[in-house]
Amino acid sequence: MTDLDASRLTAELTLEEKASLTSGASFWYAKPVPRVGVPAVMMTDGPHGLRKQREGGDHLGLGDSVPATCFPPAVGLGSSWDVDLLRRVGDALGVEASIENVAVLLGPGINIKRSPLCGRNFEYLSEDPIVSGVLGAAIVHGMQARGVGASLKHFAANNQENDRMRSSSDIDPRPLREMYLRGFQRVVEDAQPWTVMCSYNRINGVYASEDPWLLTRVLRDEWGFEGLVVSDWGAVNERVPGVKAGMDLEMPSSNGVTDAQIVAAVNDGTLDESVLDAAARRVLDLVSKATEGAGAVSGPLDVDAHHALAREAAARSIVLLKNDGGVLPLAKDAALAVIGEFAEKPRYQGAGSSMINPTRLDSALEGIRAASGGEVSYARGFSNALDVTADETAALRDEAVAAASGADVAVVFLGLPARLESEGYDRDDIDLPAAQLDLLDAVLAANPNTVVVLSNGGVVALPFRGRVPAILEGWLLGQAGGGATADVLFGDVNPSGKLTETIPLRLEDTPAYLDFPGEFSHVRYGEGLFVGYRWYDARRMEVAFPFGHGLSYTTFAYGDAEGAVNADGDIEVRVEVTNTGDRAGREVVQAYTSLPGGAVQRPVRELKAFASIELQPGETRPVTLVVRRADLAYWDIRVDGWVVEGGEYMVDVAASSRDIRSTVAVAITGDDVVLPLSPTSSIGEAMAHPVVGPMVQAAIAQMMSGMEGVEAIMPEGVDASKMMESFPIGRAGMFTAGEGGVSSEMIDGLIALANAPRQA
Ligand code: BGC
Repeated sequence: MTDLDASRLTAELTLEEKASLTSGASFWYAKPVPRVGVPAVMMTDGPHGLRKQREGGDHLGLGDSVPATCFPPAVGLGSSWDVDLLRRVGDALGVEASIENVAVLLGPGINIKRSPLCGRNFEYLSEDPIVSGVLGAAIVHGMQARGVGASLKHFAANNQENDRMRSSSDIDPRPLREMYLRGFQRVVEDAQPWTVMCSYNRINGVYASEDPWLLTRVLRDEWGFEGLVVSDWGAVNERVPGVKAGMDLEMPSSNGVTDAQIVAAVNDGTLDESVLDAAARRVLDLVSKATEGAGAVSGPLDVDAHHALAREAAARSIVLLKNDGGVLPLAKDAALAVIGEFAEKPRYQGAGSSMINPTRLDSALEGIRAASGGEVSYARGFSNALDVTADETAALRDEAVAAASGADVAVVFLGLPARLESEGYDRDDIDLPAAQLDLLDAVLAANPNTVVVLSNGGVVALPFRGRVPAILEGWLLGQAGGGATADVLFGDVNPSGKLTETIPLRLEDTPAYLDFPGEFSHVRYGEGLFVGYRWYDARRMEVAFPFGHGLSYTTFAYGDAEGAVNADGDIEVRVEVTNTGDRAGREVVQAYTSLPGGAVQRPVRELKAFASIELQPGETRPVTLVVRRADLAYWDIRVDGWVVEGGEYMVDVAASSRDIRSTVAVAITGDDVVLPLSPTSSIGEAMAHPVVGPMVQAAIAQMMSGMEGVEAIMPEGVDASKMMESFPIGRAGMFTAGEGGVSSEMIDGLIALANAPRQA
């Protein structure tokens, strides 16, 4: 079907046909309307590879699916901070989906990592909304350029798995807008995903799948979303209110039950047919785009090329946390003891709906053996099996210690067993299994020249970080992570990943510790704006490794930053970065802003822009970072809108959130916020009002001078006029009774004057 005219078709369809379009035909297909030539289109997971099930369906990753390239999950990809790389991975995902006739790939997932305990953090990009939004948009751009739609998920505030189908995320307006919606806004405005997937949970008591504020006012009216809203699989609570709210397509099939409810609601007048028409038209629009895009790429899949891209992406996902004394990169002729089960059996993706059936799977042990010219021994070190005995554990440890003592370097692979993190449930702690920590102690005692390589989807506590000279955070790296790990260990790839989430010292330090996962199906986001590094910085807490941190085998020097406001009102920051080492490398240059003395509560600094650049040894390059004016705005509950506060912003150009290299001040003209005065406005607000302010100030000054003896009573330094600032003007009369006092007529007159329409 080509040239599907969604509006014309909507007019031709019967009421029943329109209703039928708004729910799935099966687990993965939307419904066709054969009478008018509308085909069934397929949507499938996502996000870091294609999970196209051969038959049937489940949303837990249980059933078999066609082989596809398993790229690194978002936890890895995000650590590259590289827009171009994520666009290329998105492109490859689009190619694979297109070859398999999949119209929509269910991803990317960009929810904020609010707590390290969230079982699904491996599927998300960051604790920061700009990182999530910018990188999420890159994936969407890549996929959609291949004629395959993205599904931006899970909209919104789905930051835990515990009770995810009922729990209400109770969030104040500022953090909701500034932390939890900002990334979604960025992706919608910059990349127009074909679909947005509403989440299971409730937000401030209302199911995302039936929230008109979320799905219509915010998503469509404010952000200009033009695509279709699809439910997460099984997220529909009440279908008819969902249609009214703007939830177009229910997935998977409801076996016709909710279609009949919609028809009945139109017939009895409780649902306006035009509302159903809008939902049906959006489904048809999606089918139209899918049909146009179909066949953009023809098979067969170039398995080798995509595996090579997966390897490149995996190497770029690895974060070198620590490298004392230059233990890394390893010499090719070094005698190595490779220790730990993960070296042989990689943990390369997380459990649940995102599980890909990979086209092939590399282990780090194979990769190391292939790259090394020296002796490589392997010891399993520990067992992840639940029924492992104490004797077996001791024997595995002894074997590892023997291997480590005879080697130049011990490379120990530690990580979370798959059962500890998954979609559908959260973790209880952030600790590595005790047997692994014991093993590491024993190996370190035998050979201090030890490198730790981590495999984990959510952050883990690193109590050994002071005792181990080198640590590589290997996250979950997808099917080619084994080779990529070897590339980084031997320096064939210079590591350049940086943390998109803080590694805390202990769970008790984390921002949501006292408010996670909530109780009785309510979770209060009590930390407000102070998520991730915003929390640790505000409270000046020590962390294991800060947000934005990541080392390289080379070093970078930063020049003095310069900043100015450009014609669009954005801040352009320019800085020269030099590779001061002896090998090529990449640096992620970060820009954070703050507004000292600002009127509203703000984090110490917030990331606003970043760039990943490659530099040859000795090379210097100018880097320009653009901080969008819109990203300086806070959400002002008084006007229910974004407001840029005026003032002198500090822009920190940094190698991490705690490694500021240069700071530049840039003056920003604020938005004009003139609030109407009312009797509950304070005297302070009246004094600051642009029209009546001077008048009120003069009146207060006069009043103060008339109050003889005040100075004699007041302790020295107490400011009597300041004491009055928070009095509501409507009550001023009470305190100034008698002749010359403030009458209610005077207050009314003042309010009328303040609120009179002003000349533009
Ligand atoms: C997950 C989604 C996924 C869907 C389909 C749901 O349980 O939350 O991320 O896309 O299933 O498998």
